[in-house]
Amino acid sequence: MSVLIKGGRVITAADDYVADIFIEGERISLIGESLDLPADKVIDASGKYVLPGAVDPHTHLEMPWRGETTIDDFESGHTAAAFGGTTTHVDFCIQGKGQTFGAALEAWHAKREGKALIDNGFHIAVTDLREGGTLEELARLPEEHGVTSYKLFMAYKDSLMVDDETLFKTMQVAAETGALVMVHAENGDAIEVLMNEAVAAGNITPRFHALTRPPELEGEATNRAIQLARVAGSPLYVVHVSCQESAEPIAIAREKGWNVFGETCTQYFFIDQSFLDRPDFEGAKYVYTPPPRAKANQEILWNAVRTNVLQAISTDHCAYLFKGQKDAGLEDFRQIPNGGPGLENRLQMIHHFGVREGRISLNRMVELLCTNPAKLFGLYPRKGTLAVGSDADVVIFDPEKKLTISAATHHSRSDYNLYEGTEVQGSPEVVLLRGSVLVENDKLVAKPGSGQFIKRAKFGEELKPAALAASAAV
Ligand code: URP
Ligand code: ZN
Ligand code: ZN
Repeated sequence: MSVLIKGGRVITAADDYVADIFIEGERISLIGESLDLPADKVIDASGKYVLPGAVDPHTHLEMPWRGETTIDDFESGHTAAAFGGTTTHVDFCIQGKGQTFGAALEAWHAKREGKALIDNGFHIAVTDLREGGTLEELARLPEEHGVTSYKLFMAYKDSLMVDDETLFKTMQVAAETGALVMVHAENGDAIEVLMNEAVAAGNITPRFHALTRPPELEGEATNRAIQLARVAGSPLYVVHVSCQESAEPIAIAREKGWNVFGETCTQYFFIDQSFLDRPDFEGAKYVYTPPPRAKANQEILWNAVRTNVLQAISTDHCAYLFKGQKDAGLEDFRQIPNGGPGLENRLQMIHHFGVREGRISLNRMVELLCTNPAKLFGLYPRKGTLAVGSDADVVIFDPEKKLTISAATHHSRSDYNLYEGTEVQGSPEVVLLRGSVLVENDKLVAKPGSGQFIKRAKFGEELKPAALAASAAV
């Protein structure tokens, strides 16, 4: 199968020019002016942006947690991603307590089998080094499984949280194996005390989710993780940075030249703490962690992504139903499943409010949503850019298309949308994955099972496109 994309405005992290792109099989084989080649499919992209398929480094599909399972599996999650222009994601494979990492990965591979529509990799979330998982097994994951990032939760004392010993030992392993350490940075012990005090005092509504997780506790854990990673000698990536208190230690570390990186998520630019006060328990829709913060943080986060204090914008897509799952916490905010949907609308929201409203450039948008996540997580240059030899993951983006974001039209199984009613201009029109059409004319074209599992390169190394890897080996 060959595809010729004609006359679009090709935008990468570095470039912005009008060109034609020729795709043979799964890869881009030529980019040039006025290419006149016979092709099985020709796409007229004049007046459109041609972007690399977006990469989401932070999702939770079909994740069992605290008695509920996230509502999007790999099929519905990937459908939502595809319509939103995301063609690759890295999902969190969570080690159950007492489970080996191999067994956890087997379980997560089974979830995607026959369902995957886009490409994905896995991070391993380390929850238990006392039983089940060992440091030796952890050390083998990059080479044997292509799992090159270790995630640790410094919060959720009732379930996923690890102590500093586990965190530090994992960092030491990462320093040896070339994996990237990721942390959910909040002080889980202090939060546990505050939550229990709140409930004991009768404070049970969604707003107490935020009040018991103050930004200082995110700042403290971020700083602790940075210092521990420095001693261990591992690179560190702080997930879902939500506030000034955690952006600041990252900025300081980066000024000093330390190997520290961070992401924020779409929702932190748009949803503030007051959303938790919405009547009729609607505040529960915005119970995710870290919580929505005071509005002043939104401008701080825009500055952080603009000035490279933060390198990526993910979704932390962790979708639940409002009716039937979130309502488990009607009488106690601690029982509200933590998380929200967002996989579909990242590109539309960041394009409209970031690029159109002049906060970031188009190139920076591509860098934050495509290139940097691919580079940080061992997917580049197969993913995250438009270059000869790269996978032909391409988004033909119509910058003029207007739409209203709504749960009525999104593709997640969640019964609500975090950005309900938001009007945006600019949306994907055609989405290709490895040269095959995923989405066109508002229809899903690909079949479940067509997405591939990607064994990722180690931190700082490139994932060679298949053809280049083969010739390098000769
Ligand atoms: O509320 C959230 N973010 N749920 C998913 C788990 C996590 O902390 O990322
Ligand atoms: Zn988290
Ligand atoms: Zn998450």
